[in-house]
Amino acid sequence: MIKRLRTIFRLTAAGLAALFSMGAMAQPVSIIPQPVHLEQHEGTLLLRADMTMAYDAVLGQQARYLQEVLHRSTGFCWKQTEKKSRADVVLEVDAQRVAETEGYRLTVDGKRINICGHDAGGLFYGIQTFLQLLPPAIHDSTLQPQTEWRVPQVSISDAPDHPWRGMMLDVARYFYDKEFVKHYIDMMAMYKMNKLQFHLIDDSGWRLEIKKYPRLTEVGAWAGQNENRLGGYYSQDDIREIIEYAAVRNVEIIPEIEFPAHMLSAVVAYPWLSCTGKQHEVPRQHFISRDLLCVGKETSINFLADVLEETASLFPSNYINIGGDEAVYDRWKECPLCQKVMQREGLSQASDLQGYLTNVVADMMKKKGKTVVGWEEIIMRGKVSQPVVALIWHEVKDTILATQTGHQAILAPATNLYLDFPEGSTPGEIKAATWMPPISLEKCYSMPVNDYSQASTVLGVQGCFWSDQFIHGTLLQELPQLNENRSEKYAEYLTFPRLLAVAELGWCSNASRNWQHFKQRLSSHYARLDHKDCNYRVPEPDIVSMTEVGDKVRFELASPVDGATIRYTTDGTYPHSHSAVYSSPVEVDVKTDFRAITEINSRHYSLPIYFEPDFSAYEKYGTFVAEWKPQSIAPNAGTWRFEATGKMVGNGTYDVTFVHTHGNDMQLGKLVQYKRDEQLAEIPMKATIGRQHTAVTYRITQTAFEAGVPFYFEVETACNGVCNSHGYVFVRKVEE
Ligand code: ACM
Ligand code: ZN
Repeated sequence: MIKRLRTIFRLTAAGLAALFSMGAMAQPVSIIPQPVHLEQHEGTLLLRADMTMAYDAVLGQQARYLQEVLHRSTGFCWKQTEKKSRADVVLEVDAQRVAETEGYRLTVDGKRINICGHDAGGLFYGIQTFLQLLPPAIHDSTLQPQTEWRVPQVSISDAPDHPWRGMMLDVARYFYDKEFVKHYIDMMAMYKMNKLQFHLIDDSGWRLEIKKYPRLTEVGAWAGQNENRLGGYYSQDDIREIIEYAAVRNVEIIPEIEFPAHMLSAVVAYPWLSCTGKQHEVPRQHFISRDLLCVGKETSINFLADVLEETASLFPSNYINIGGDEAVYDRWKECPLCQKVMQREGLSQASDLQGYLTNVVADMMKKKGKTVVGWEEIIMRGKVSQPVVALIWHEVKDTILATQTGHQAILAPATNLYLDFPEGSTPGEIKAATWMPPISLEKCYSMPVNDYSQASTVLGVQGCFWSDQFIHGTLLQELPQLNENRSEKYAEYLTFPRLLAVAELGWCSNASRNWQHFKQRLSSHYARLDHKDCNYRVPEPDIVSMTEVGDKVRFELASPVDGATIRYTTDGTYPHSHSAVYSSPVEVDVKTDFRAITEINSRHYSLPIYFEPDFSAYEKYGTFVAEWKPQSIAPNAGTWRFEATGKMVGNGTYDVTFVHTHGNDMQLGKLVQYKRDEQLAEIPMKATIGRQHTAVTYRITQTAFEAGVPFYFEVETACNGVCNSHGYVFVRKVEE
């Protein structure tokens, strides 16, 4: 085993500084994910156009990859030589020298570069580390003639802690073209991630060509009519091209064929697949259909077998993902054919029917040499006899269940690794999933990996990028004007830089991860993302200190991005590209009037530092939900609708309290709760809220909570003419 996290610099800080200034040495290296063992030596090696490269015969693709990357930015065209002893650069595999799967050794001395992998994947990772040792411009797709290509002299030995370092990309809710998918894979590979769960099927779209069922893509891949028709799919040739592209980069593509739920697009194409046979349309909005695959029809089971057979032949991975999440069993309970299967199999609950189906499929796939992967529901609905791999997306401790039932697990908890949630709640933040609190970069990075189960049960981690926020290319909620309003850019904004945190979670052991060290290394990676033409969320400036000095507040800031400028205002306005540049601590009269942004350039900058309103005076009312202002309330009589997704998590009794803060009185009437468009509770009320009665509380019992589904309230309001009332709404769970 490689001893974890030993980073050794053989020079003193003063010695290093002198060497940087002489250009004899590069800056300390900042590799993500952090290598297990890294020694940086004195001196650098300057790359030249006339260098030669020798490589093992099995590494032709990886050698070409390196040559292409180098050629684009440096213009160098390193010639191949047969003799390793004479080559300047050697790429080799040696499973004796490097014992760990996907591991590598990289040495750069004054004359030569040697990269040795345990396997081709490990060698590829050695190349990635080598590229990260070079200036960020190395990743550019155009010639960078001004750059000096100097590599620090290093000895690195490295290997991953977990074999599964995944991302899920939801191409079903939004169709990303083949080029974007390749770009996503390339970014994963840069950070040594090795599994892409390709979420090809969902209610809103079927994206995989299946020759035996052409209507899946003729019909199921498209929403809307005529000129409003949107969608798309990957032909089998496209898939082969993506697989080949990924293979060079050590990324395995695992197709996800969702059933028995999340497959309305197939039911639209072939209505006989469902229990009712009813004709539906491919939805244009986020929607979770209750029309499941009918387990009682031979035709449906044959369909599933055919689709899985064709998919299994197309994708070389030894895994196949069968989805399995969020099935609601109403249709199965009502379907005589499904009921008949339950009787035949001696099943007492409709959910056991899902377990039955999982078993049928797992047996089928085993014959093809494939292991079934699915969302955690596949090990929670009935007993599954084949060992499967469950993606734990709710509670990390459910890996214990996987251990106890002979299965394996991948950690993909929504709380930390769903990258479709925004990073923060600063006003102006990108609008994204809301059914849980935001996931900051630190929260994503800090997830413990092996706390609950045996390490052997947990294969690794997986970030998930769902696309239901901009289904079919329509952003349901717009990007802030700071960012380009394109869906692919939006996907990148949410994915980066958090993907780098997920990558390090998967690569490094719990003990070797260090948030401050990661953040420090990350500061030089934004420039790498820029050269890769990859959008990202620019982090707000770091507040190094905030101290009271007399009646003023003194801010000391630092840029979280190497080379970025910090701009600020002290009057509460939004900083822009001509605002004052921060160079030394700033004193302000009112803390909340201080605003500062990190500026990469005049088109790419962060949200401002933001201080949340102080709700401490309202603590007894619970969590803040919404704020009403005169402009939110209809004149005279009307209703005010506000979102409460993620505020009432789980079933139970809650107090929803309206608190008047200032302005005129207002009448409050009935409060109605909605789950998406479905009306739930309705609480009558007739009360005046204002200076006399500052708080009005509605008590509500929630029985239909569903994660991932938006919840709203609508309250009747009445004022005398234009409403000039201000206040907050809070929610508190009533202890039972
Ligand atoms: C999921 O988020 N429905 C797996
Ligand atoms: Zn049925």
